[in-house]
Amino acid sequence: MSSSSSSSSSSSSSSSSSSSSSSDVPVPTPATETATPPAPPAPPPQPPFTDRLSDVLQKGAKAVTGGNGKAPRRLKTLLSGTWLGHPLHPVITDVPVAAWLIAAVFDVLWLAVPSAAVWAPRGAQTLVGIGLVAALGAFLTGIADWSDTYGAERTVGLYHGLLNSSAIILYAVSTYLRFQQSTGQSTPAAIVGFVGLGAVIVAAYLGGDMVFAKGTAVNHTAWEAAGEDFEAVLPVAEAAENTLYRVTTAGVPVILLRVDAQYYAIAATCGHAGGPLDEGTLTNGVVQCPWHGSRFRLRDGRALTGPATMGQPRYDVRVRDGMIEVKRHGGH
Ligand code: FES
Repeated sequence: MSSSSSSSSSSSSSSSSSSSSSSDVPVPTPATETATPPAPPAPPPQPPFTDRLSDVLQKGAKAVTGGNGKAPRRLKTLLSGTWLGHPLHPVITDVPVAAWLIAAVFDVLWLAVPSAAVWAPRGAQTLVGIGLVAALGAFLTGIADWSDTYGAERTVGLYHGLLNSSAIILYAVSTYLRFQQSTGQSTPAAIVGFVGLGAVIVAAYLGGDMVFAKGTAVNHTAWEAAGEDFEAVLPVAEAAENTLYRVTTAGVPVILLRVDAQYYAIAATCGHAGGPLDEGTLTNGVVQCPWHGSRFRLRDGRALTGPATMGQPRYDVRVRDGMIEVKRHGGH
């Protein structure tokens, strides 16, 4: 059976290809397709719209605030809050949020309670104006801080800023409408204010998310441990003058500087966003962070230029038996 089947198959095959088998000369197959050149490589995918928008806005913000300028970058330092020793933005934001919230309460009062129809709209009018002025300060300090962010925190910050900017526009309209009325009473102004307050509340939630979930503006040296006692970190013979050395004590990286017979040491991790100060530039006892340009004085760790707002933890230094020893100043 199998033999017969095989024979039949062979016969069929033979008849269907009789022209080629009769001559035993391979017939060239006519070319039906021409070789196509390889396709050019696909262009890299476009970054998301939010990234492209953030790039443009950050560039503009740095140009305006001097974030890319040379030290001392006074406007950047002013807006960051370096002079205050604390981020300035969260201090200012409390004012418009509180003013607009109380203004909304006053609006509800004069709309719902006839006896409040005189004083409540006046109060709302004043508070909306105060909130508007303070919001401009919050806007400037916020955009100065946001211009140094990256990745997810930058995206959240973008939405945070866009919502707050929308609120500023809404409250500007609301203020204008209120001052068109001698009594301060304007139902459209109150409604626009309610919408603006909604935007502010969502924006405040996102601002909290930036700090508590993403760590924006959190002091990166806050959890650094301090050793119980002095710890030897470097032989004196290896410490050249005016050179930054990265050493470690109690598991914490520290930068060490020798000037003449004096030694100075501060935390090596920049408190602003964690930049490595040992990779920064040293000028006259001041180190500039390689990431965003904050400058710290080695002598006492003080922040001289923003965006950093808090000084670096400083370390006491002594020499024993040819070794440089350090210990966290104050032991905190
Ligand atoms: S990490 Fe931002 S200035 Fe150092």
